[in-house]
Amino acid sequence: MARDEKARIAIFGAGYVGLVTGAGFAELGHRVAIRDIVPEKVEALRRGVVPIYEPGLEELLARNAERVSFTLDAREAVQVADFVYVCVDTPSTYSGDADLSRVWTVIDDIGSLDGPRTLVMKSTVPVGTGEKVRLALDARGLDNVGYVSNPEFLAEGTALRDFMKPDRVVIGAFEDSDGDRVEELHAGIDAPIVRMDVASAEMVKLASNAFLSTRISFINEIANVCELVGADVEDVAQGMGLDHRLGPHFLRAGIGFGGSCFPKDVSALKQLAGNSGYHFQLLSAVIEVNELQKRRVVSKLQKHLGKLRGKTIALLGLAFKPHTDDLREAPSLVLASRLLAEGAAVRAWDPVADASSLLQGASFCTEVSEALAGADAAVIVTEWPELRTLISVENRRAMRNPLIVDGRNMLDPDEARQAGFVYEAIGRPASPLQALPETEERTSELQR
Ligand code: UDX
Repeated sequence: MARDEKARIAIFGAGYVGLVTGAGFAELGHRVAIRDIVPEKVEALRRGVVPIYEPGLEELLARNAERVSFTLDAREAVQVADFVYVCVDTPSTYSGDADLSRVWTVIDDIGSLDGPRTLVMKSTVPVGTGEKVRLALDARGLDNVGYVSNPEFLAEGTALRDFMKPDRVVIGAFEDSDGDRVEELHAGIDAPIVRMDVASAEMVKLASNAFLSTRISFINEIANVCELVGADVEDVAQGMGLDHRLGPHFLRAGIGFGGSCFPKDVSALKQLAGNSGYHFQLLSAVIEVNELQKRRVVSKLQKHLGKLRGKTIALLGLAFKPHTDDLREAPSLVLASRLLAEGAAVRAWDPVADASSLLQGASFCTEVSEALAGADAAVIVTEWPELRTLISVENRRAMRNPLIVDGRNMLDPDEARQAGFVYEAIGRPASPLQALPETEERTSELQR
């Protein structure tokens, strides 16, 4: 392919990564064929309906419609492709290893490719996968097919920006010429391109996500200590983040990390180390801290309400973070299940995520006000912008007990308390206990 020529790219997997990568490459002028195995998904995409919630994605695909096609047929996708991108998911197995069955199915589906092509791995895979795929390709006589690891660093909600303006593009190749070809594909993207061997590229992805998760568990532990010693984690994080060696990112204390990447990748790296004979102690702690963090809200509620049996709790936000409908590993699911197990009535609200099939026993509200009416407490689980106006006289009056547990530290504590709410956050000074109207009932419950 000459430098100014555009490439033909087959993308396997029409999930977040595949669709964003496809839309991004089409925007750069390449021709893209996206292949998925789910007929309804392919049909919807052909009609211009994107089955996931990612701001701007539907518009970007529509704008580049003439360069993007969708198909169920692996052969059709690969037929004229210069590059085959693997963008299928690699979920955790029960052992914590990554499940690579979908990746291997794609390698099988691709079958015998005509002419030289480059296979590019975007899916997050354990270190050593590239080596195994290389051997498998060679064993099938496909030594003319190049292999490149080009991990994705897209965050949901900002995925298009992350594709077009990434911090870096990591390219790991066995042969420099294959790496060069993938580098050329990114012409038009203004970012440092980092070239390395395949194993190192695979490790960059796992190590980056594990380190970001470590920062979150670290600041959550600092928050928990702040609560005991009377410090405010928001001030602490700001003070820490201004140190240029630390930086301000991923120091937001809260109720733990979720999503399709962090929990899975931390556990995959821990498992990879274990399988290779190394006990990665730090990551065990990162995972444990995160699990406990999701449950700490329950004791904050009990502190004010006593037993939760028969109490109504409004859960505000269900998605693992705002601007997505993704519920994978969302802290809300663990928290809601704990509350239901304690006998509380859970009223959940989220502007886009639908958890009705995952949370049996909870009720779901389309408006925040509906969730708050008569509630004994409101818990902010996901920092949706809609919740910035939670502090109001109407909302306080609507609740049976004006208790807010802000799991994302998004509200101003002074404003909340001045408006008559009892306000608890994460790692910030707590409200005094006596402020709720039902103190007598609670006190006797606590004594029972
Ligand atoms: C992440 C990585 O950022 C991305 O590079 C990778 O490719 C996939 O995983 P994503 O899962 O979309 O992206 O979300 P991200 O914004 O990173 O947040 C992950 C979780 O951490 C969320 O649950 C979020 O609420 C939590 N988080 C994030 C915190 O609790 N505190 C923080 O300071 C930052």
